[in-house]
Amino acid sequence: MCGIIGYVGKEANALDVLLKGLSSLEYRGYDSVGVAMFDRMHRLSTVKCAGRVAELEKRVQGSGDSYCGIGHTRWATHGAPSDINSHPHGSANLQIVHNGIIENYACLKKELTELGYTFVSDTDTEVAAKLLDYYYMKRRGHFDAVCETIERLEGSYALAIVFADDSGTIYAARKDSPLIIGIGEDANYIASDITALLFKTRDYYSLEDGDIACVKADCISIYNKGIEVKREKQTAKWDHVAAEKGGYDHFMLKEIHEEPEAIIRTLRPRIKDMLPDFSADKLDEDALKRISRLHIVACGTAMHAGLIGKFMFEKYAGLPVSVEIASEFRYNDPIIDENDLVIIVSQSGETADSLAALRLAKEKGASTLGIVNVIGSTIANEAHSVLYTYAGPEIAVASTKAYSVQTSLLTLLAIRVSLLRSRIDEKEAREFTHELYVDAPRAIKEMLERASEIKALAGNFAKSEDLFFIGRGKDYYLSCEGSLKLKEISYIHSEAYAAGELKHGTISLIDDGVPVIALATESRLYGKMESNIREVKSRGAEVTLITNAESEFKSADHVIDILPISERLAFLPVATVLQLIAYFTSTERGCDVDKPRNLAKSVTVE
Ligand code: AGP
Repeated sequence: MCGIIGYVGKEANALDVLLKGLSSLEYRGYDSVGVAMFDRMHRLSTVKCAGRVAELEKRVQGSGDSYCGIGHTRWATHGAPSDINSHPHGSANLQIVHNGIIENYACLKKELTELGYTFVSDTDTEVAAKLLDYYYMKRRGHFDAVCETIERLEGSYALAIVFADDSGTIYAARKDSPLIIGIGEDANYIASDITALLFKTRDYYSLEDGDIACVKADCISIYNKGIEVKREKQTAKWDHVAAEKGGYDHFMLKEIHEEPEAIIRTLRPRIKDMLPDFSADKLDEDALKRISRLHIVACGTAMHAGLIGKFMFEKYAGLPVSVEIASEFRYNDPIIDENDLVIIVSQSGETADSLAALRLAKEKGASTLGIVNVIGSTIANEAHSVLYTYAGPEIAVASTKAYSVQTSLLTLLAIRVSLLRSRIDEKEAREFTHELYVDAPRAIKEMLERASEIKALAGNFAKSEDLFFIGRGKDYYLSCEGSLKLKEISYIHSEAYAAGELKHGTISLIDDGVPVIALATESRLYGKMESNIREVKSRGAEVTLITNAESEFKSADHVIDILPISERLAFLPVATVLQLIAYFTSTERGCDVDKPRNLAKSVTVE
């Protein structure tokens, strides 16, 4: 996510506050940075660049200090990282910094172009800035111009705004993207979160959706729908390190809790009238209709997300899908041609094996599509087309929210392809989309509220040296991810096994007390899974069952019954449960959850 900071005060130390605040926001992940400040002659100027805060510091050296300014660290969502796409954006009259996604930016851009506006960047934020300039130029007062602009914006935003002819005020507005007003002595602040301000103040107001704040050195006014409102003053109890994690003990736990919002943020721009709509992504839908085979190629968790995609495309779009480990694909001389679509799934967009697989697929004439979380990354740039996930930066090495958004986006794409290939009608597509966009985030939230129940179970696993996951169908694919999560952060040896395959060898490893986690969410396979549970229990296993139908099972020792959700999407709350099991097991064992031994967040070498 982007980071926002703002200062207005009676002392000329805006630059110092902005730079310190931006450095405090670096943990959020970013690719570019910028500030807009008034000099002592009240002239507004902007300095911005791709790269780190340190680069910005070099560029602002000697620029003197200021009584008022705003700053921004950018996590690109529209437009690759570059100086010109960095924030702030604006005009001679104003400057804006923004965190969020303006979903109707394309039509607003067209309208403003017809009004004579020109654009220098590829960002949605510049569109918001020019729209504000339009209302400002229509002789609207600052506040009224902000209100009229906000009225026109669709999507999510946290905005900080300064007008060139008012060096004593910062305007702030929020919808769906957090924004706070820091309360100081003879100064006030704006920030994406309190982390950026702890060096100055612990007291703040959290803006609510629809709030517009006018912030001056000695007063803060907050309005909602034109009426002045009072927001409760809050005081941060966290230290800086805890604040970076939003009060969670680890980035991984914070990111697991971000999953519902991350899914909604990723799907929302691709749903119109509760049907999949990828027109904003400019997908080649003729190619999607024409292809005869689909390959999903990735590594690690991204490959496991591909397995869920396989299930969805095969079941709903009737497309044969092969899921390939990228490091194998690139050396196995795969049989692909122009009738194939190769989807490369990658959170970082920089994984060496996945990038090599992409290049090989292109050489062989296949169409390629990247599903990537980092805007402007190499895989995103080199694939023929790209669908960005909007999970925000994933700091923990163990991938969690990326998996949730990758599987959700693959499912939405499978629904779209099913419609294109007339495999389902609009009624079913609308139902399925509603389940994905509304029910699944809710089900994940409900499982997150039961974290203490899951934590209690994890205590059993922490003492184990071997642990088995078993499942059938989609649950087997899910077992693969649950096993990887556990291994990589708790260092417990674990295997995921197709439950029906156990008797062909691995069951010899089951002995007294060996923990087995069984997944059963597909009704057609409940009976088979009950038999497999009995099979391992009879050899001494201690079985924890994660299911959506507790009453169908009699033999498990422990049961986590997920709350009602369509069984075709039960994998999403179950994935969250598996991530929490891995997390709590790891913390119980005293492992380094966010930075496990031997691992890197992005494997950019073979
Ligand atoms: C996930 O928990 C792992 N850290 C790892 O398997 C990761 O999924 C894999 O390296 C792929 O990374 P990517 O999604 O950035 O391509």
